[in-house]
Amino acid sequence: MKLTVVGCGYLGATHAASMAELDHEVLGMDSDMDKVAALNSGKAPFHERDLDEMLARHIASGRLKFTASYTEAAAFADLHFIAVGTPQLPGEHAYDLSHLFSAVRQLAPHLKGPAVVAVKSTVPVGTAPRVRDLLNEFAPAGDAIEVAWNPEFLRESSAIEDTLRPDRLVLGFETEHSWAETVLRQCFEKIIETGTPTIVTDWATAELAKASANAFLATKISFINAIAEVCEASGADVTQLADILGHDVRIGRRGMQPGLGFGGGCLPKDIRGFMARADELGVDQALTILREVDAINNWRRERMIDLAREQLDGNLTGKRITIWGAAFKPNTDDIRDSPALAVAQKLHELGATVTVTDPQAIDNARKTHPELDYIDDPSAAVQNADLLLHLTEWPQFSHIDPHHLAARAGTPRVIDGRGTLNTETWREAGWTVRALGRP
Ligand code: UDX
Repeated sequence: MKLTVVGCGYLGATHAASMAELDHEVLGMDSDMDKVAALNSGKAPFHERDLDEMLARHIASGRLKFTASYTEAAAFADLHFIAVGTPQLPGEHAYDLSHLFSAVRQLAPHLKGPAVVAVKSTVPVGTAPRVRDLLNEFAPAGDAIEVAWNPEFLRESSAIEDTLRPDRLVLGFETEHSWAETVLRQCFEKIIETGTPTIVTDWATAELAKASANAFLATKISFINAIAEVCEASGADVTQLADILGHDVRIGRRGMQPGLGFGGGCLPKDIRGFMARADELGVDQALTILREVDAINNWRRERMIDLAREQLDGNLTGKRITIWGAAFKPNTDDIRDSPALAVAQKLHELGATVTVTDPQAIDNARKTHPELDYIDDPSAAVQNADLLLHLTEWPQFSHIDPHHLAARAGTPRVIDGRGTLNTETWREAGWTVRALGRP
């Protein structure tokens, strides 16, 4: 099939490359010329496992290209995925839908015949009819354009895998047995035929699927982090506790890793956007739980600052603190709402000299946090440090030998904010070890 993907950020670029992998002919469209140039040269403007290789392969094969022209996109195919960003409005909880409506509004005048517009962007429930109305008003083909809702559940760092082998496919349509359903089933045929659960539903349910999934994932993380506080106060070990709970198949261990909490471009904004929409719908009380989820999450960052202060005898001024991790999670260079950087910035404000290291995210972190010091080598970063904080659980950090490191540190003191360091080994190597949620 021929198809386009409008908006080539994390979601769109991954979707475009993955659709080419499924043997479709794909044109990615983005109004950012630099991004288009980078993608056409086979390089994503962000770090995502295997994506560059896949982009380069499909650009070379001719199955994938990128453009900044809506005219070209509209002429290329009759199936258009929309994957533009829907960030949080500055100073508000609600979504900023301006990129979405602008993309639809700019594509519409070029749609002269029947087409399917399938939206992947995360939105508040009730957005699909607004997209349909815009297309009806501005597309020459009018109501021959069908709107489909196809939420995306991909995680950064496993985005391609999640796109090609998703846990489920959700397809939302205005009416049953629509032409849009036939088109999307054809598009995803290779995924559906492997037995992927495929749920065909209405627009509102499809829109809510994404909001509710992220709300649940955030709740699961904040739940175990709330329990972590009780663990700290009572001498219990939250990591073991999470293992014990996780063996109950109704609970499950995955997505319940205790620690510094969630960040990134999705979970924090999506729970806030969900609350804002519930408020508009007059059911805000139904989601007050998410206010707590957000508060617990922010509190973990405060708790880390308190622990650091405690370890440094109540005084952060002039202390040298090394932070392992800048990305919001491992295997990405994304620093949006990064818990690690939030802690780093706060410690800097409180008078500490903060050195940050990260395998991928230093360049991005330096742009937004120039006040911090950066060093590539995690061992060298510990030189003369008064305290080491482990805040993003890159696997390579867990493999560093704490014995060698102890000699380099000013004082061998560490706080594990992600529960993945072998605290026993670190203690044996002479470190004073604290960990969130552990004795
Ligand atoms: C998330 C959802 O998982 C995905 O389905 C959705 O499409 C987009 O939002 P992502 O933001 O890429 O994906 O990362 P995820 O792996 O879910 O982690 C989000 C944050 O939660 C990270 O900061 C991570 O460190 C934290 N987290 C995750 C935990 O603290 N504990 C966990 O058990 C899992």
